[in-house]
Amino acid sequence: MEPGFWHEKWHQQQIGFHQQDINPFLVKYWQQLRLPANTKVFVPLCGKSLDMCFLAEQGHQVIGCELNELAVQQFFSDNQLEMSQTTVGEHQHYQTEQISLYQGDIFTLPKVITQEVTAFYDRAALIAWPESMRAQYAKQLASLLPSGSVGLLVTLDYPQESLIGPPFAVSPTWVEQHLSEDFDIEVLASQDVLADNPRFIKKAVPWLNEAAYLLKRK
Ligand SMILES: C[S@@+](CC[C@H](N)C(=O)[O-])C[C@H]1O[C@@H](n2cnc3c(N)ncnc32)[C@H](O)[C@@H]1O
Repeated sequence: MEPGFWHEKWHQQQIGFHQQDINPFLVKYWQQLRLPANTKVFVPLCGKSLDMCFLAEQGHQVIGCELNELAVQQFFSDNQLEMSQTTVGEHQHYQTEQISLYQGDIFTLPKVITQEVTAFYDRAALIAWPESMRAQYAKQLASLLPSGSVGLLVTLDYPQESLIGPPFAVSPTWVEQHLSEDFDIEVLASQDVLADNPRFIKKAVPWLNEAAYLLKRK
């Protein structure tokens, strides 16, 4: 989506994607990555996700990238975290002891910022892109991740014709076709979550699958 779309969503606080709880797949599967406490974890398109607090609670250093300034500010104020702010190139850098958020476009994030990450977490980032831009995002993510880094990818899949995204449907076939060049892929889970998603029920979407993948950057 174009930046203006997301700025408007944040301005209007139409942020249905934001979860009040930690993502259950993150809680269930993160330990399978077997990461030491002080691991640097990259969270692309992070919004103000509480999942970053979970990652920090594991002892990790979190590095997020988010386009919208209000999202970043709300993350720190909602969680009563005091941060410092500096400018890094065209990004604003907000920092606490364990959480470092770069506000700006992921496509212009300098690679030096993620060069020491060994893990990543993509929830509602890949699926935020329409198909026409998704592969480009996936390539940018891959280019920001050092070889050997491991991560959790959480996707949604449903019949795309039944709803206008975002979130956009991302099938296991798409994941295999577009990510396997850069990542080793293991499917960890796939389950029907239609009953928990009133927006999809209201639009008579017939089925909705949430999947978790373990990815390793080649
Ligand atoms: C669907 S939301 C998901 C947010 C978060 N991952 C979560 O689980 O709540 C997608 C987020 O990506 C941000 N975004 C969109 N385009 C971006 C870009 N080019 N660079 C960085 N962030 C972007 C949006 O502002 C929005 O907060």
